[in-house]
Amino acid sequence: MLVFTTAAELRAHAEASRGAGRRLGLVPTMGALHDGHIQLVRAAATQCDEVVASIFVNPTQFNNPDDLRLYPRLPEQDTALLAAAGCTVLFMPSVEEVYPQPTVLRFDFGELERVMEGAHRPGHFNGVATVVSKLFHLSRPHVAYFGQKDFQQVAVVRQLIADLSFDLELVVYPTVREADGLAMSSRNRRLSPEARAVAPLLYQVLAQAASGVREGVGPAEVQARAQAALAQEPQFTPEYFEVADAQTLQPLTAYGPGRGVVLCVAAHLGGVRLIDNVVV
Ligand code: PAJ
Repeated sequence: MLVFTTAAELRAHAEASRGAGRRLGLVPTMGALHDGHIQLVRAAATQCDEVVASIFVNPTQFNNPDDLRLYPRLPEQDTALLAAAGCTVLFMPSVEEVYPQPTVLRFDFGELERVMEGAHRPGHFNGVATVVSKLFHLSRPHVAYFGQKDFQQVAVVRQLIADLSFDLELVVYPTVREADGLAMSSRNRRLSPEARAVAPLLYQVLAQAASGVREGVGPAEVQARAQAALAQEPQFTPEYFEVADAQTLQPLTAYGPGRGVVLCVAAHLGGVRLIDNVVV
């Protein structure tokens, strides 16, 4: 596995690989890797000739300085996991390398980011779109791999690809969960044993709500029941629970034929912010 820390090295390698007719897959990450990330790398390894994984804790997408400071960083462990999963190029740049100057360009994804993560984390999707655009330009992938765990991020990246005519295919893989249902996340490492013990409630509430949607319980009632269930556990501070259109991500007031439903939740637990979602 090649390890690059400069943009110039990655760009030169990607150009040469493309020129040689090799199919490139990109897996962007912020490190502290788990099976959710690794499934994306393995998929890329079976579908592409080269797998570029990036590890970059992108400061521009953090709206909370403590979250950025405390974000887990495990470069040695990550490097070994990536090599074992079939990654061929690891891009691990410094902040100065990615941002030699502050960015001026601002992304606005309209309605897509006026809800949920976009509404609760001002500037978050601007930072995501900026860094993802840079990674697309530097690594010139034929395929980019993302996880459904970050459902709204996928919608934003899909819009980014369409609006800026990035010549690549977006491939999305399902959320990988712990045995008790908790969605894998780098931030789970920061949960205390007490918090970790109650964390699966987030997915239980989503699963219950999904049953409600399937039984035809209305969106407002599904939301109210889910919020009440979360409030039962005092360790949780819920941020939102939304019953939304899976395409537009706008809150639903009614279900419609051919209209996908996504249930999205965000909550703080012992100083850690967790998100999860289920598509019904
Ligand atoms: P990060 O949170 O490290 O996630 C990297 C990729 O792994 C994302 O596409 C994410 O959706 C996916 N992923 C994370 N947990 C997952 C799980 N439990 N199951 C399936 N996929 C999972 O998302 C980011 O980093 C950043 O915003 C990034 C796109 C790298 C831009 O900085």
